[in-house]
Amino acid sequence: MNLLLFGPPGAGKGTQSQILVDKLGLVHLSTGDLFRAAIKGGTELGLKAQSYMDKGELVPDSVVVGMVKEKLEELERDTGFILDGFPRTVAQAQALEQMLGSLSLKLDACVFLEVPREDLVRRLSGRRVCKNCGAVYHVDSKPTSKEGVCDICEGQVVQRPDDEEAVIVTRLQTYEENTQPLKEYYDSQELLVGVDGVGSTEEVFSRIQSQLEMA
Ligand code: AP5
Ligand code: MG
Ligand code: ZN
Repeated sequence: MNLLLFGPPGAGKGTQSQILVDKLGLVHLSTGDLFRAAIKGGTELGLKAQSYMDKGELVPDSVVVGMVKEKLEELERDTGFILDGFPRTVAQAQALEQMLGSLSLKLDACVFLEVPREDLVRRLSGRRVCKNCGAVYHVDSKPTSKEGVCDICEGQVVQRPDDEEAVIVTRLQTYEENTQPLKEYYDSQELLVGVDGVGSTEEVFSRIQSQLEMA
């Protein structure tokens, strides 16, 4: 199964992707995670992406599309994937369609996670991530057992630089202007599966699961 998971910043794309990876063995392709790894590794790609990410703006389409193309080409033929955070513009969606076509692949569903703005801000401002293994926590809904220390690898748990209040506002605006139109785009292709993203992570996952069975 090839899925696209989209929705506003903080909707739970990464969280739900991780559950889908664990339960269905899909490969997770998150453009945000790929850029953060490139920044950590000090690569040229990381240098290109960082200034945009720090401001909450989109990295230019040409940079993102090239990176995703490479990753899709590397995939094992019969492994399903989840795209998280890509596409984020209609131009990216069109580029994706072309890339998939040339690889004889297709999307089975585009899952849209719907979460109200107040919850998004609460989720983003309270999110903490492990610097070492990337595990994601939340100060209220998923705290670490020991403050500032990752439960999995004992790495340092910090705030993502773009989770500062001012950047959150820009990210939400960038989303509304550029990414929201994708709902209509995928609806017209009859691929859109809308899911209520409020509730526990398990509740949201079982909604995704049952919606996909119906789709
Ligand atoms: P990216 O990393 O994709 O960030 P994002 O879209 O802003 O989304 P987030 O990762 O912040 O949220 P999420 O939906 O994954 O939520 P999560 O599961 O972590 O992109 C970062 C930047 O990279 C962009 O701003 C842009 O600059 C650049 N970029 C990336 N892709 C690009 C592209 N295609 N084109 C151009 N630029 C691109 O959950 C959030 C928090 O909520 C966590 O603390 C979690 O524990 C908690 N939580 C999750 N689910 C629940 C729940 N059900 N109940 C309560 N809390 C919950
Ligand atoms: Mg994410
Ligand atoms: Zn860790």
